[in-house]
Order: sequence, then structure tokens, then C-alpha cells
Amino acid sequence: MKVLLLGSGGREHALALALSRSASLTQLFILPGNDGMAREGQLVSGIALADHAAILDLCRTEAIDLVVVGPEAPLVAGLADDLAAAGFAVFGPSKAAAQLEGSKDFTKSVCVAAGIPTAAYATFTDHAGALAYLREKGAPIVVKYDGLMAGKGVTVAASLAEAEEAIAALYANEPAAKVVIEEMMEGEEASFFCLIDGETVVPFGSAQDHKRVFDGDKGPNTGGMGAYSPAPVFTGALEAETLARIILPTAREMVRRGMPYRGVLFAGLMLTSEGPKLIEYNCRFGDPECQALMLRFEGDLVQVLHAAATGALDRVSVTLAASHAVGVVMAARGYPGDYAKGSVIRGLDKAGTLPGVTIFHAGTKAVGGEVTSHGGRVLTVAATGTTLREARDRAYAAVDAIDWPEGFCRRDIAARGLARLGQG
Ligand code: AMP
Ligand code: GLY
Repeated sequence: MKVLLLGSGGREHALALALSRSASLTQLFILPGNDGMAREGQLVSGIALADHAAILDLCRTEAIDLVVVGPEAPLVAGLADDLAAAGFAVFGPSKAAAQLEGSKDFTKSVCVAAGIPTAAYATFTDHAGALAYLREKGAPIVVKYDGLMAGKGVTVAASLAEAEEAIAALYANEPAAKVVIEEMMEGEEASFFCLIDGETVVPFGSAQDHKRVFDGDKGPNTGGMGAYSPAPVFTGALEAETLARIILPTAREMVRRGMPYRGVLFAGLMLTSEGPKLIEYNCRFGDPECQALMLRFEGDLVQVLHAAATGALDRVSVTLAASHAVGVVMAARGYPGDYAKGSVIRGLDKAGTLPGVTIFHAGTKAVGGEVTSHGGRVLTVAATGTTLREARDRAYAAVDAIDWPEGFCRRDIAARGLARLGQG
């Protein structure tokens, strides 16, 4: 099969690597990709992901059998609908189904309709109404902007003043902003991934990430500074409960609404004393969770994603190795704020040959035979191991073999999982 992969981050590099190892792959195109993934497929440049007509032309010219969409923005913009209308198989939900990520209010309505456990909430489009509800409920409380904000639209407010400030900022920016206010849930967070082809749901493993930029969960939120899979807290019993009470009811409700979900559904869960509750959905793999998951995936990813795209998931099996995988993000100093581009990264070849190690590129550029930084999150240095500790130690051994003074990483990736397993 000829596959077109869309996206350019570490997540897409991990997908590219797993796709490139599939027996059923004949050719892989990556749009736009980055220089670090040129070994895995043929990079295509000069087409914006927002240019659906140009992507359709490319699919026709190259007779693409499967389009795999990495990031959420093209899905929320309806790219999967346009591709499907032209007869192409696409891994990724329709615009309507991608509302599960694009609109928190939509997801909450699905939860209410299907009886899915989640935080109690109310939605507002006016500042006064939102304030009145806040004051009635009191702190702690959570304020969310209803739309794609790359993880920056959420305030978990410990005090009423903090919540009022968050609301004021949202309404100052947009007078009729849609804002979801919800109860604060307590517990440990875990991420759970499932492939869905409309009716059939196939688990694709769990992970935990590290959203804050500095060790000990300090500093501002980022896209994710590291991840590990599986999440030790997410036991088989919790997985079964999550499937039965959260994921399957969601898939059924989406079918009932005439907008069947196809693609990967990424559930952000809070494991509370009352059981797993849904925090949010994403309509894509996580980055860097995907890097850890793909290192554990065994099998033909092209075949599996094609099955998800064409309603044939009941005919394939998905196996993740019993190993552990850890991914450590190396970012440019200054990220998630301002950072410089163009510094040289050395030692990647040596680091990449250490036992169990794979280095995924997110923001690199080849300049005169050298690898240079070209983004905020630049690399995910990942490793597998038979224990979480071995995977963590291998990943950091590779980090230490990389010579990049202008970069940094967290040193405590997987610490929570190690503590739970008594491997800390
Ligand atoms: P979201 O973008 O909805 O995933 O929210 C980002 C982060 O905010 C989550 O990963 C949680 O850490 C936190 N969060 C969101 N909603 C809640 C909630 N209702 N209770 C506690 N923490 C939350
Ligand atoms: N690492 C979190 C995400 O991809 O949303």
C-alpha cells in the first residue's frame, strides 16, 4: 500500500518509523515531515496542510491507498471529510467527530447523553453568567476555553480570585467566548489510546506524560516534555472499566449521532476514588506519548490503520510488547517561551545506536551535513527496556551522549511510574 502521512513532529516520526516497518507498505510519503525522518519516507514540500485541494491532487497523482493524519488541526478543519468524499481511505475522524477534541462543550454533551463519568460542568457564553456560576460553586474549580488552544486554555484554579481572573482574561480576548466551568477532580492522570472504526474499539495502550517544563512539575505547561508506556497505575481492571464505561459508550453515542468516530481516540483520564473519569478527548495520538507507544507496537501498522479507516478493525489484531518505553523530550533553551534556532546538535548517531534507543526528530534541520535545531521541542530520545527503570536509564544514557549545549530536558521523566513500581 502507498501511504501519505501528514505532520512534522516527533509523533509523526514515530508513526513514520512504524509505518516504514510494515510488510504491507510499498511507498511512504510524508507531508511535510522534517529532515530527521527522511530515512523513513519521501518528504513532500510545498503543500500546506490547510490546502485540501492540493493534498487531494497529491493523493490522486500518487494513487495513495491510505492517508494518516498526525495532528488535530487538519481533522478539525474537515480534511478527512474531503479525502473520504474523493474516495480515499483516511485514518482520522471527520470534522463532526473531531469535535471530541475541538469542543469541550460537545464532549460534555456526549458524556451526559451516554452517562459517561466526568466532572460536573456548565457552559457559558457571557461573562456575567460565568461569574455568577463560579461564585455559586466556589474554589477549587476548573475554567476551560471551548476550542483548540494547544493545552493553554485550561486553568485549574485553587482560589476564586484565580478563577475570576482566568474568566476575565478569556472574555477580554473574546466578548462572547464559550467557556466551560467544571468541578475539579482529584486523582492520578493517565492517558489511554484506542483505535475505533465506528463500531469496533481496539485498545492501543496507556501512557503518562509530563506537561510542565521543569522537573517536579514546575513551570509553565508545554506540549509534553516526556512520556512512558504503559502507565503502571492503569491496571487491566481499570482498562476494562474505562472501555466499558467511557470509550464504548462514546463510540456508540457517536454512531447514534450519525458521526461515527474513525481513527485514534486519546482519552485523558483522572483515576479518582470513584473510578476513572474523563478529563478530555483528543482525536490524534499524543506527542510524545506516540513515540513510546510505537516502540511497543508489534505488527503491521499500515494494515491496522487501514483497517481502522475502512471499518475492518474486527479483522486485525493489535499487539503491544510487554516491554516498557520511555521518551524524553529535548527542547531548545527558552521553550515554551522564546528560543533560538540553528544551534548544532552532535552525537546523535552514537546515541542512536545505544541499546534499545530510538531518537525521534521533531524540530531539526539538516544544514551542511550537520543536524541543527529548528523548533521548540526538537527531539524525543526514547528507549525500551524489560523494566521501566531499564527503559528510563537507557533513554537518559542516550540523552547524555548527545552534545547540544543549547538544549535541555527534564531529568525526572517516568519518576511517578517508577515510584509506583518500587523501582525509583
Ligand atoms: P485538558 O486540556 O482538558 O486536558 O486539561 C489540561 C489539564 O488540566 C489536564 O491534563 C489536567 O491536569 C487538568 N484538568 C483539566 N480538567 C480538570 C478537572 N476537571 N479536574 C482536575 N484537573 C483538570
Ligand atoms: N502530550 C499531550 C498531547 O499530545 O496532547
